[in-house]
Amino acid sequence: MNVLMINGSPHKQGNTYIALQEMQKIFEQEGIDSEIIQVGNKAIRGCIACRACAQNGKCVFDDCVNEIAPKFEACDGLVIASPVYYASANGTLISFLDRLFFSTPFDKTMKVGASVVAARRGGLSATFDELNKYFTICGMPVASGQYWNSIHGREIGEATEDAEGLQGMRTVARNMAFLMRSIELGKEKYGLPKKEPFLRTDFIR
Ligand SMILES: Cc1cc2nc3c(=O)[nH]c(=O)nc-3n(C[C@H](O)[C@H](O)[C@H](O)COP(=O)(O)O)c2cc1C
Repeated sequence: MNVLMINGSPHKQGNTYIALQEMQKIFEQEGIDSEIIQVGNKAIRGCIACRACAQNGKCVFDDCVNEIAPKFEACDGLVIASPVYYASANGTLISFLDRLFFSTPFDKTMKVGASVVAARRGGLSATFDELNKYFTICGMPVASGQYWNSIHGREIGEATEDAEGLQGMRTVARNMAFLMRSIELGKEKYGLPKKEPFLRTDFIR
């Protein structure tokens, strides 16, 4: 059982990383493997809507999106973490996620998702909602915590002082572990839910 954790901050060990580390401690206690990969410090371009991925099964831009895709396919849970920028997620992370989710053909149903956000003061829950959209469009159940998975801090390291924020990270990690295990059992017993052929009506006909 393993969790892939994406750090969307340009700071390697900033406040977003502190939140992820707190979750990682719990995964370790629970015997679940986890890996933090930082993407927020990379030059990641946005999706150009060429749709070549529909034929190739991967993005035409052969960068960390294609490198990380197999890890996403193999994981049981995905954590997306972002610093809040103008009440939204970090732009580099969004470019990464748009291309990762759009270009990967594998079934994501019942991989457990969780998002966490770090900010000085505002825009946390809007960013949290934004990130959860990646999960809820593709059958990924969202692990929730005791609040809207957020931690406060401005300068690097300040998040260590946010006791409630850190507790929230531990809670969502425990909930995620429980959900992943429950889903593993459920898959054995009942199999994945049946999928109908996709009906795409695009609102015009
Ligand atoms: C471009 C930019 C925009 C920001 N916008 C917000 C914001 O809208 N709300 C907020 O509370 N903090 C904002 N911040 C502060 C960061 O979210 C905060 O410093 C956070 O802890 C950084 O996380 P990190 O250390 O993981 O990079 C902004 C920072 C930058 C650089």
